[in-house]
Amino acid sequence: MPAWQALVAHRDALASTSLAQMWEGDAERGAALTFPCAGLAVDFSKQRITAETLTLLAALGRECGLPEAVEHLFSGSEVNASEHRPALHTALRGDELLTVDGVDVREEMARNHERMRIFAEAVREGHWKSATGARFTHALAIGIGGSSLGPRLAIEALAGEADGPEVRFVSNVDAAEFDDAIRGLDPATTLVVMASKTFATQETLANSISAREWIVSALGEAAVAKHMIAGTANTRAAAEWGLPECNVFPFGEWIGGRYSLWSSVGLPIAIAIGMARFEQLLAGAHAADLHFRSDPLERNVPALLGLVSVWNRNALGIASHAVLPYASRLESFPAYVQQLEMESNGKRVSALGEVLGHATSPVVWGGVGTPGQHAFHQWLHQGSDVAACDFVVVAQPMGTNAAHHEILLAHACAQSEALMNGMDSPEPHRVCPGNRPSTTIVMPRLDAFHLGALLASCEHKTFTEAAIWGVNPFDQFGVELGKKIADRVLPAVRGADVALHPATRHLLGVVRRLGSE
Ligand code: F6P
Repeated sequence: MPAWQALVAHRDALASTSLAQMWEGDAERGAALTFPCAGLAVDFSKQRITAETLTLLAALGRECGLPEAVEHLFSGSEVNASEHRPALHTALRGDELLTVDGVDVREEMARNHERMRIFAEAVREGHWKSATGARFTHALAIGIGGSSLGPRLAIEALAGEADGPEVRFVSNVDAAEFDDAIRGLDPATTLVVMASKTFATQETLANSISAREWIVSALGEAAVAKHMIAGTANTRAAAEWGLPECNVFPFGEWIGGRYSLWSSVGLPIAIAIGMARFEQLLAGAHAADLHFRSDPLERNVPALLGLVSVWNRNALGIASHAVLPYASRLESFPAYVQQLEMESNGKRVSALGEVLGHATSPVVWGGVGTPGQHAFHQWLHQGSDVAACDFVVVAQPMGTNAAHHEILLAHACAQSEALMNGMDSPEPHRVCPGNRPSTTIVMPRLDAFHLGALLASCEHKTFTEAAIWGVNPFDQFGVELGKKIADRVLPAVRGADVALHPATRHLLGVVRRLGSE
């Protein structure tokens, strides 16, 4: 691959120049390596790159067919080849006509969106009442993975704009999580919002049964029709579960779970902040979509986020990626990005099924600043491994005390400078080697529009990486194996005498022994 060979030669030529030296040699690199996207500004100047690196990465993108892949994504081609379907999350926030297999999918999306609007506003305005005639004060959102992480993040991030019922989340099948979520809630004023693309996920169904029992034992069977609704692509299963048709809010099979917060999976968001703000979220994502679809790779922010990630992973061999939002309300952002990137690109074979000869997704993890500075940042500064870091900084103050924001900003800037420059010392334990790369994404405000732009940029970053690595980012067959084994183990946990692997039989024995103490 000529573009890759050129990048390797460039990497070798740059190898002896540290980030600190790059800055010493070019004080203008800040402006040259910072790019706008839908109101965000993304500063790549603390990456181990130069303007030439971006040119070479863009050439790699072209050689790997990235512009064509982007067009396939937006035009509804079958980009998810293993499951024979397109990935149409961008159409949920767009307004262009889109026909797939002769069907106008935008029309269907607009219908679903309208039903969502009417329902969310009816709950918020008190027109959709509880079985007792009361107004809903709370929503219990049940879902896991992509059916929870995005909505949870959006509701937390936009807490300052929340003026609807308070939303609590339940994902884990651990009953303690359910108990904690309903503590203090009155079933008479709680709406249960299930989200499951497949309507077959064990954890979500178990929690939904518990929620149903909680509602029915307090209000009677008839209350289910008033208190339980679902966002799903499997409307038949939702009907068989006992939900009336008008309580089921569909979305298409071609919306992947981790790309679904823009669909009826986002109902908890719309209930919490209102449909007008939910539409601002879509508008911000759409603005990032337009940028990703049309701007040249050399200044295309989502593409550059992906290409720089490929540079760090494949050219520099960095296998760890830390996501560091400097905003408490973005505490769930690392978990959201972790699912998006690791479930999409944690693959070892190409979209065509060939075993790959290069690395794919790094480990993605992270945590909110500044608390992370007093926990794991020590590892970032002096650990034996290097992580590529993405900082997220919000320019305008959050909360009521602007003085706190000044301190927060100072720390965010200081961390990326410290990672870059490090520190020398005659005492070895004080040495910080520096030269540790980071990107800083700056949001003007933590509002719905810019959150939408941020999340869509993350989606497209992931898509860009997949196009270079040659993987299908829209399937996740790896998660099936554990589910199948759990189905075999569950009867044994319940006491049945079934065949088990000796290691599992041993472990269950240990658990039983400790459980009976
Ligand atoms: O097990 C992984 C996964 O399939 C994710 O891709 C998905 O977001 C999550 O489970 C939940 O699936 P569902 O929305 O079908 O309940």
